[in-house]
Amino acid sequence: MLMMVQTKFFDERSDQSEVKARIVQKYFYVWAKVIIPTAKQTTKKVAYIDLYAGPGRYKDGSASTPLMILERAIEDPDLRSMLVTLFNDADKNHTNSLQAEIDRLKGIESLKYKPQINCGEVDSDAEKYFNETRLIPSFSFVDPFGYKGLSLKIVNGVIKDWDVIAYSSSTTTGLMLASRIRQ
Ligand SMILES: C[S@@+](CC[C@H](N)C(=O)[O-])C[C@H]1O[C@@H](n2cnc3c(N)ncnc32)[C@H](O)[C@@H]1O
Repeated sequence: MLMMVQTKFFDERSDQSEVKARIVQKYFYVWAKVIIPTAKQTTKKVAYIDLYAGPGRYKDGSASTPLMILERAIEDPDLRSMLVTLFNDADKNHTNSLQAEIDRLKGIESLKYKPQINCGEVDSDAEKYFNETRLIPSFSFVDPFGYKGLSLKIVNGVIKDWDVIAYSSSTTTGLMLASRIRQ
Protein backbone atom coordinates (compact mmCIF):
# COMPACT_ATOMS: atom_id res chain seq x y z
CA MET A 1 0.00 0.00 0.00
CA LEU A 2 2.78 2.41 0.97
CA MET A 3 4.69 1.55 -2.21
CA MET A 4 1.58 2.47 -4.20
CA VAL A 5 1.23 5.75 -2.30
CA GLN A 6 4.91 6.48 -2.89
CA THR A 7 4.76 5.64 -6.61
CA LYS A 8 1.73 7.88 -7.03
CA PHE A 9 3.27 10.59 -4.85
CA PHE A 10 6.05 11.21 -7.39
CA ASP A 11 3.90 10.87 -10.54
CA GLU A 12 3.11 14.55 -10.67
CA ARG A 13 3.51 17.34 -8.18
CA SER A 14 0.24 18.09 -6.42
CA ASP A 15 -0.69 21.65 -5.46
CA GLN A 16 -0.08 20.72 -1.82
CA SER A 17 3.41 19.41 -2.59
CA GLU A 18 4.28 22.57 -4.49
CA VAL A 19 3.04 24.77 -1.63
CA LYS A 20 4.94 22.64 0.88
CA ALA A 21 8.18 22.87 -1.12
CA ARG A 22 7.83 26.64 -1.56
CA ILE A 23 7.17 27.18 2.15
CA VAL A 24 10.24 25.13 3.07
CA GLN A 25 12.41 26.90 0.47
CA LYS A 26 11.31 30.38 1.56
CA TYR A 27 11.48 29.62 5.28
CA PHE A 28 14.93 28.09 4.87
CA TYR A 29 16.19 31.19 3.08
CA VAL A 30 14.84 33.58 5.71
CA TRP A 31 16.28 31.39 8.48
CA ALA A 32 19.66 31.29 6.74
CA LYS A 33 19.76 35.09 6.41
CA VAL A 34 19.16 35.44 10.16
CA ILE A 35 21.69 32.76 11.13
CA ILE A 36 24.53 33.50 8.68
CA PRO A 37 25.93 36.65 10.36
CA THR A 38 26.49 34.68 13.60
CA ALA A 39 27.68 31.57 11.75
CA LYS A 40 30.29 33.69 9.93
CA GLN A 41 31.84 34.44 13.34
CA THR A 42 31.59 30.89 14.66
CA THR A 43 30.99 27.70 12.67
CA LYS A 44 31.48 29.23 9.19
CA LYS A 45 28.90 26.72 7.97
CA VAL A 46 25.15 26.17 8.06
CA ALA A 47 23.40 22.95 7.11
CA TYR A 48 20.26 21.76 5.38
CA ILE A 49 19.32 18.17 6.24
CA ASP A 50 16.59 16.13 4.54
CA LEU A 51 16.43 12.57 5.87
CA TYR A 52 13.60 11.55 3.50
CA ALA A 53 14.81 13.39 0.43
CA GLY A 54 13.04 11.56 -2.43
CA PRO A 55 14.22 11.27 -6.08
CA GLY A 56 14.70 14.99 -6.82
CA ARG A 57 12.07 15.43 -9.50
CA TYR A 58 8.49 14.33 -9.97
CA LYS A 59 7.75 12.33 -13.11
CA ASP A 60 6.18 15.46 -14.63
CA GLY A 61 9.65 17.07 -14.43
CA SER A 62 8.96 19.52 -11.61
CA ALA A 63 11.66 19.98 -9.00
CA SER A 64 11.15 18.80 -5.45
CA THR A 65 12.41 20.44 -2.28
CA PRO A 66 16.09 19.34 -2.36
CA LEU A 67 16.61 20.79 -5.85
CA MET A 68 14.74 23.99 -4.95
CA ILE A 69 16.93 24.49 -1.88
CA LEU A 70 20.11 23.96 -3.91
CA GLU A 71 18.92 26.31 -6.68
CA ARG A 72 18.34 29.01 -4.04
CA ALA A 73 21.79 28.37 -2.54
CA ILE A 74 23.50 28.64 -5.94
CA GLU A 75 22.01 32.14 -6.36
CA ASP A 76 23.31 33.42 -3.01
CA PRO A 77 27.02 34.18 -2.40
CA ASP A 78 26.88 33.47 1.36
CA LEU A 79 25.07 30.17 0.92
CA ARG A 80 27.40 29.17 -1.90
CA SER A 81 30.33 29.34 0.48
CA MET A 82 28.69 28.17 3.73
CA LEU A 83 25.93 25.67 3.01
CA VAL A 84 26.49 21.99 3.78
CA THR A 85 23.66 19.74 2.55
CA LEU A 86 22.86 16.20 3.61
CA PHE A 87 20.20 14.22 1.73
CA ASN A 88 19.17 10.74 2.78
CA ASP A 89 16.61 8.26 1.50
CA ALA A 90 16.04 4.57 2.14
CA ASP A 91 15.37 3.85 -1.55
CA LYS A 92 18.49 3.44 -3.72
CA ASN A 93 16.55 4.38 -6.88
CA HIS A 94 15.64 7.66 -5.23
CA THR A 95 19.18 8.50 -4.11
CA ASN A 96 20.59 7.59 -7.56
CA SER A 97 18.01 9.76 -9.27
CA LEU A 98 18.58 12.60 -6.80
CA GLN A 99 22.33 12.47 -7.40
CA ALA A 100 21.82 12.62 -11.18
CA GLU A 101 19.40 15.57 -10.86
CA ILE A 102 21.78 17.45 -8.56
CA ASP A 103 24.68 16.88 -10.96
CA ARG A 104 22.56 18.42 -13.74
CA LEU A 105 21.82 21.65 -11.82
CA LYS A 106 23.26 24.74 -13.47
CA GLY A 107 25.96 26.24 -11.26
CA ILE A 108 26.17 23.29 -8.86
CA GLU A 109 29.97 23.39 -9.09
CA SER A 110 29.91 26.87 -7.52
CA LEU A 111 28.93 25.40 -4.13
CA LYS A 112 31.94 25.12 -1.83
CA TYR A 113 30.52 21.97 -0.19
CA LYS A 114 29.36 19.21 -2.53
CA PRO A 115 25.91 17.88 -1.50
CA GLN A 116 26.22 14.63 0.47
CA ILE A 117 23.82 11.88 -0.50
CA ASN A 118 23.30 8.88 1.70
CA CYS A 119 21.14 5.81 1.22
CA GLY A 120 19.83 4.39 4.49
CA GLU A 121 16.78 3.77 6.66
CA VAL A 122 16.02 6.35 9.29
CA ASP A 123 16.10 4.00 12.25
CA SER A 124 17.54 3.73 15.75
CA ASP A 125 21.12 4.14 14.42
CA ALA A 126 20.11 7.45 12.87
CA GLU A 127 18.47 8.48 16.15
CA LYS A 128 21.66 7.64 18.01
CA TYR A 129 23.81 9.52 15.51
CA PHE A 130 21.77 12.70 15.65
CA ASN A 131 21.42 12.54 19.43
CA GLU A 132 25.17 12.12 19.97
CA THR A 133 26.55 14.34 17.21
CA ARG A 134 26.82 18.03 17.77
CA LEU A 135 25.36 19.80 14.75
CA ILE A 136 26.31 23.05 13.09
CA PRO A 137 23.33 25.43 12.72
CA SER A 138 20.94 23.22 10.80
CA PHE A 139 17.60 23.43 9.09
CA SER A 140 16.09 19.94 8.96
CA PHE A 141 13.17 18.92 6.80
CA VAL A 142 11.51 15.75 8.05
CA ASP A 143 9.11 14.59 5.37
CA PRO A 144 8.31 10.88 5.73
CA PHE A 145 4.80 11.16 4.25
CA GLY A 146 3.37 8.49 6.50
CA TYR A 147 6.30 6.10 6.31
CA LYS A 148 7.58 4.51 9.47
CA GLY A 149 10.88 5.65 10.85
CA LEU A 150 10.02 9.03 12.32
CA SER A 151 10.26 9.20 16.05
CA LEU A 152 10.46 11.94 18.60
CA LYS A 153 14.05 10.88 19.26
CA ILE A 154 15.12 11.78 15.73
CA VAL A 155 13.28 15.09 16.00
CA ASN A 156 15.01 15.78 19.32
CA GLY A 157 18.33 14.76 17.79
CA VAL A 158 18.15 17.29 14.99
CA ILE A 159 16.89 20.19 17.10
CA LYS A 160 18.99 19.63 20.20
CA ASP A 161 21.86 22.00 19.27
CA TRP A 162 20.18 24.51 17.11
CA ASP A 163 16.91 25.52 15.97
CA VAL A 164 14.70 24.67 13.03
CA ILE A 165 12.77 21.69 11.92
CA ALA A 166 10.11 21.57 9.26
CA TYR A 167 7.94 18.52 9.64
CA SER A 168 5.47 17.24 7.10
CA SER A 169 3.30 14.16 7.25
CA SER A 170 0.29 12.76 5.46
CA THR A 171 -1.38 12.42 8.82
CA THR A 172 -1.10 16.05 9.84
CA THR A 173 -2.98 18.87 8.21
CA GLY A 174 -0.34 20.89 6.49
CA LEU A 175 3.14 21.71 7.61
CA MET A 176 4.33 22.37 11.09
CA LEU A 177 7.29 24.63 11.58
CA ALA A 178 8.86 24.85 14.99
CA SER A 179 11.87 26.76 16.10
CA ARG A 180 13.97 26.83 19.17
CA ILE A 181 16.58 29.42 19.90
CA ARG A 182 19.74 28.32 21.60
CA GLN A 183 20.07 29.80 25.08
C1 LIG B 1 7.36 12.28 0.72
S1 LIG B 1 8.84 11.60 0.09
C2 LIG B 1 10.02 12.90 0.35
C3 LIG B 1 9.85 14.10 -0.52
C4 LIG B 1 10.93 15.15 -0.38
N1 LIG B 1 11.22 15.51 0.99
C5 LIG B 1 10.52 16.39 -1.16
O1 LIG B 1 10.18 17.39 -0.56
O2 LIG B 1 10.53 16.29 -2.37
C6 LIG B 1 9.28 10.44 1.34
C7 LIG B 1 10.58 9.67 1.06
O3 LIG B 1 10.93 8.97 2.25
C8 LIG B 1 11.61 7.78 1.88
N2 LIG B 1 11.55 6.90 3.07
C9 LIG B 1 10.52 6.19 3.52
N3 LIG B 1 10.80 5.55 4.68
C10 LIG B 1 12.08 5.88 4.97
C11 LIG B 1 12.95 5.57 6.05
N4 LIG B 1 12.59 4.80 7.07
N5 LIG B 1 14.19 6.09 6.03
C12 LIG B 1 14.58 6.90 5.02
N6 LIG B 1 13.80 7.24 3.97
C13 LIG B 1 12.56 6.74 3.93
C14 LIG B 1 10.86 7.29 0.65
O4 LIG B 1 11.69 6.47 -0.16
C15 LIG B 1 10.49 8.62 -0.04
O5 LIG B 1 11.41 8.95 -1.05
